[in-house]
Amino acid sequence: MIADSFGRVHDYLRISLTDNCNFRCFYCMPEEDHDFTPASRLMQTDEIIKLAKIFVDQGVRKIRLTGGEPLVRKDAAAIISALGKLPVELVITTNGTRIAEMLPILKEAGIKSINISLDTLQPEKFLLITRRDVFHQVRSNIELLLQERISVKINMVVMKGLNDGEIRDFIDWTKHNTIQVRFIEFMPFTGNKWTSNKLFSLKEILNRIERDFTVLPVEGTPHDTAKHFMIPGHEGSFAIISTMTAPFCSTCNRMRLTADGKLKNCLFSNGETDLLSALRNNEEILPLIRASIMSKKKELGGQLITDFEHIDPGAIKNRSMITIGG
Ligand code: GTP
Ligand code: 5AD
Ligand code: SF4
Repeated sequence: MIADSFGRVHDYLRISLTDNCNFRCFYCMPEEDHDFTPASRLMQTDEIIKLAKIFVDQGVRKIRLTGGEPLVRKDAAAIISALGKLPVELVITTNGTRIAEMLPILKEAGIKSINISLDTLQPEKFLLITRRDVFHQVRSNIELLLQERISVKINMVVMKGLNDGEIRDFIDWTKHNTIQVRFIEFMPFTGNKWTSNKLFSLKEILNRIERDFTVLPVEGTPHDTAKHFMIPGHEGSFAIISTMTAPFCSTCNRMRLTADGKLKNCLFSNGETDLLSALRNNEEILPLIRASIMSKKKELGGQLITDFEHIDPGAIKNRSMITIGG
């Protein structure tokens, strides 16, 4: 078991497979040329499996693959197949472009739930945000997943003035589709141009939806990042991830392994533990993991404040989102 000093048991590992991506979303990747980590400094397939096994032996029950875009990594299939053999729930967060070609591998590895990042339902705005003209490809891949009865969660980062006007369209999408749309409060990371006036909060999102619909709260699961809701008559549902205005750190069970093999004990922590170098030097890994998690702060990496109007994004010491994986 891996626990922190507040008694929170950590049984969920997020592994970033790469800091590379086939999109260029401004809110995730810094504009100034982002240097992708050279392959030699990335965890190799066998190193990912070795590290994952150490976590699984200590009670990790869920592994989420993230990126960058996890499916652009050339050996993604080999990694997914190997991790699929471990006794864990294996899931993935992806931009949805590579689903069709990867579907057989994903199914074979037992993946039953996929989170897709999609911030707009308008092709021109999709191009503006991602700088890639592949909206229809992502939409048809989502249809494919639904046909395959794979559970789909849509991650929609709400940015005031950019896509908050589309909340209603996303809700309409849940009427005849069994998707779950998650509206996510925009969070500050290095280089992502976050300002408090781009934040569209939990309250604002709920108010907006309640103007047109009856909204009922739904009980979530113990370590949820999201607050869940349903609308009577809708086949799908929606949820809100409110890191900025209503954080959920008291039940946190998450650890993060970056693509270059560093353990981060919180999305917002600035300390990292270099597990990959330790593995390559034949050092003992478990004591390093335990020490890292023991030093985890109570809330938001000890760095963010919930009084978000007074956050100075420049003062936050962290990586860019693309190198963390969310
Ligand atoms: P599940 O709960 O496993 O479905 O996944 P998730 O929602 O945690 O993961 P996903 O990768 O889909 O991320 C959705 C949003 O939640 C992104 O904006 C993430 O940055 C955010 N997120 C994921 N984990 C955490 C966390 O531990 N803390 C905070 N504050 N945000 C998180
Ligand atoms: N704030 C909130 N969520 C973000 N994501 C990426 N950048 C941010 C941000 N600044 C989301 C993506 C992806 C998930 C892993 O993190 O939409 O779905
Ligand atoms: Fe856990 Fe940090 Fe996320 Fe809070 S911000 S839920 S402590 S990872």
